[in-house]
Amino acid sequence: MLDNKGFDLWADGYDESVHLCEENNEYPFAGYKDVLGTIYNMVHKKEKAKILDIGFGTGVLTKKLYDDGYEIYGIDFSEKMIEIAKEKMPLAKLVQYDFSKGFPEELENIQFDYIISTYALHHLEDETKIRFIEKVEDHLAKESKIIIGDIAFETRALLERCKAETGKDEWDDEEIYIVFDELKEFFPKENVKFIAISHCAGIIQLEKLL
Ligand SMILES: C[S@@+](CC[C@H](N)C(=O)[O-])C[C@H]1O[C@@H](n2cnc3c(N)ncnc32)[C@H](O)[C@@H]1O
Repeated sequence: MLDNKGFDLWADGYDESVHLCEENNEYPFAGYKDVLGTIYNMVHKKEKAKILDIGFGTGVLTKKLYDDGYEIYGIDFSEKMIEIAKEKMPLAKLVQYDFSKGFPEELENIQFDYIISTYALHHLEDETKIRFIEKVEDHLAKESKIIIGDIAFETRALLERCKAETGKDEWDDEEIYIVFDELKEFFPKENVKFIAISHCAGIIQLEKLL
């Protein structure tokens, strides 16, 4: 599993390596553009919104939302990723923080309309994911959403199929992918849904109505 220094090293080549993998429709990034595009369209249902991106990386998604006039906040632990994203979004509030430790104090008093995260939460154990989602839920404004796009599967059987097709040399056993059927009962909201995007990608949406 990569630590912040590992992500620092990947930062400059990140966009290109994701693009190649996605073009070939291969695990782990098959469906990447559709995941980001679907989340982009979901966010656009509100004209003005405060958005928190958890593990924003090079800012591929948040940069588009930033250019559209959305107020952007972000958490990432890689100095190099932050440097690249900051250049694209100088007015965004980007906080260097390790989300496996919880939620950063700097953002503690802010309520967000959307809390989004793409390809970042699979670095957390399932229990830590649930606890983290419960924690970020405290920072949702009225009628807001948590939207997670990641390598994710509706059922364990679909994960196993993807793993078998990918082969053990390519499959990353250290990453912990969401299996929606197994985790949905632990998510804090009643209004939870899974949208399958590719053979290895999906979106989990948790909606706060009141
Ligand atoms: C695979 S990249 C995804 C970047 C971007 N969201 C995207 O969709 O292209 C994962 C990002 O999450 C960050 N990340 C991973 N684990 C983290 C942690 N524990 N705390 C903070 N950031 C983390 C990495 O630094 C990296 O920028």
